[in-house]
Amino acid sequence: MAKSKSVALRLFEIYKKNGFMLSSELEPEYMKTDKFVFTRLYIGHMNQTYHLGIAMREIAFLESLSSLADFKNIFIIGNSFGFSTLALALMNPQAKVVAIEIGMEPFTEKWIEATNIIAQAEGLNVKVVQGSSPDNNAEIIERELGGSIDFAFVDGLHTNEAVQKDFDSLRPFGHERTIYGFHDVLAHKMVEGLSAAVGRNPIPTQIFFATPSGIALASAAFPEGFDVFCDLYGSNSLTQAILQKGVAAVVPAA
Ligand SMILES: C[S@@+](CC[C@H](N)C(=O)[O-])C[C@H]1O[C@@H](n2cnc3c(N)ncnc32)[C@H](O)[C@@H]1O
Repeated sequence: MAKSKSVALRLFEIYKKNGFMLSSELEPEYMKTDKFVFTRLYIGHMNQTYHLGIAMREIAFLESLSSLADFKNIFIIGNSFGFSTLALALMNPQAKVVAIEIGMEPFTEKWIEATNIIAQAEGLNVKVVQGSSPDNNAEIIERELGGSIDFAFVDGLHTNEAVQKDFDSLRPFGHERTIYGFHDVLAHKMVEGLSAAVGRNPIPTQIFFATPSGIALASAAFPEGFDVFCDLYGSNSLTQAILQKGVAAVVPAA
């Protein structure tokens, strides 16, 4: 059987083919800065990026999650230059991937059409729509996804207020097995907003400490195999013990 290329390789290949270079997950210890952990877009060596893409470990995170589920309808808040949009489409060839992007500045506005053109050339079922979350979510989800979401990836405005409004706007379109993902919950200190949103209509929620931005996932029914996924991405009792007790939890006394 022919081997298939990883999503990570295919993503880098797609951007390169279209004249762009990417940098991602350059190790802070060696680079002497943590500015290059998330994904940036370049033409030659010139940085073009206005809003960063998710990190490569988060691409692997989404790929592992996708391998456990059968997402048909995926909704993304925040497209920037299409990195997570194209990634989720590559990981879920059976799905339709719809992203809402406000496009407040020329970079993100230009990438609404650019992402759609690249996706079409790659045969990916993607549609990026210009709009503002939460106000336009309902009409776009109704029109483009028939009013139902299997996976939502929230990565738009990073405030405690916005994350609550985004989540509230999506829940009417979810079902028992819908998974809601939230990027940057730890990095942008949005635990409070997410907890408030989750608390109003309780749903099991986990935060993943082995993702650079501190991604959270919420679902009434996580898929089979989710326990090992939680071990892999740092959301289990061992991670809690390490957090609470530091190295004492894992390094035996000399
Ligand atoms: C961090 S970037 C998204 C990165 C993208 N998910 C990726 O990894 O490729 C955040 C994006 O959300 C968009 N955005 C911010 N507020 C928004 C809103 N209220 N509605 C829709 N998009 C919004 C920004 O323009 C920006 O492109």
